[in-house]
Amino acid sequence: MNQRVVIVTGAASGNGLAIASRQLAAGDFVVAFDLSAQCLAECEAGNWAAHRGAVLAVAGDVSNEADIQRLVDQALSVHGRIDVLINNAGITGSQAATDVHTTSVEEFDRVMAINVRGVFLGCRAVLPHMLGRRAGVILNIASVASFVAFPKRAAYTTSKGAVVQLTRSIAVDYARSGIRCNALCPGMIETPMTQWRLDQPDLRAQVLSRIPQNEIGTPGDVAAAAEFLVSDNARYVNGAALVMDGGLTAA
Ligand SMILES: NC(=O)c1ccc[n+]([C@@H]2O[C@H](COP(=O)([O-])OP(=O)(O)OC[C@H]3O[C@@H](n4cnc5c(N)ncnc54)[C@H](O)[C@@H]3O)[C@@H](O)[C@H]2O)c1
Repeated sequence: MNQRVVIVTGAASGNGLAIASRQLAAGDFVVAFDLSAQCLAECEAGNWAAHRGAVLAVAGDVSNEADIQRLVDQALSVHGRIDVLINNAGITGSQAATDVHTTSVEEFDRVMAINVRGVFLGCRAVLPHMLGRRAGVILNIASVASFVAFPKRAAYTTSKGAVVQLTRSIAVDYARSGIRCNALCPGMIETPMTQWRLDQPDLRAQVLSRIPQNEIGTPGDVAAAAEFLVSDNARYVNGAALVMDGGLTAA
């Protein structure tokens, strides 16, 4: 089996946890990065217990350049190579980050730092290594908010739009060097990020009413699409932004 080395950021919860778990089940080595060392340890003892030798957990902040360099250095010192980077860590911002004139500058900067700077730093840190090998795959988890504005989520919507354009820039600049870069754009997925909203029956019904498929997506759906995009089956998919939203943005 071709055991690849896959970095997943935000790996200790929701979509990132499902992505990391699916890549482990496929036989890959996963370098799991998250802010929370404790949540990573819980995943190692729980979801990933059967894959003990295949997980390298690294705690840190995607928006911190030194933390990202440490992540890449540790992955290379343990495995000698990085085949795939999945930039998944992201936040929606606090409930105070709503429309533009009421969003504080600090909150806007925080959302952009994690959702955009974090993706930039991850890509920037792995690309020299991928260039040296003339191979590598990057997947950035964006959102349907890359294309349509979520009401009163200006910072998040802005950040996810930027992730798609960053993805396209990387695809264009590095395709000739054997590197692919795509974005995955989920609609509403049931994770700790969205749980507070989906736990309220009226809000869940409101969300469902806008989704033609009449169902909320699961982290497993995201992980399945991610597995395809980072696989050789997607070898000709480059610079794409794959929307997976139960028909939400088609309506
Ligand atoms: N849930 C959805 O409906 C949905 C839809 C579209 C896109 N997304 C995107 O999917 C990604 C994952 O979201 P989720 O729903 O699984 O959220 P989540 O809150 O369940 O998980 C996010 C994980 O990222 C980690 N994280 C947060 N900030 C970090 C930082 N600065 N450095 C390192 N790790 C950090 C958290 O600790 C957490 O483990 C995000 O980029 C999100 O924008 C989610």
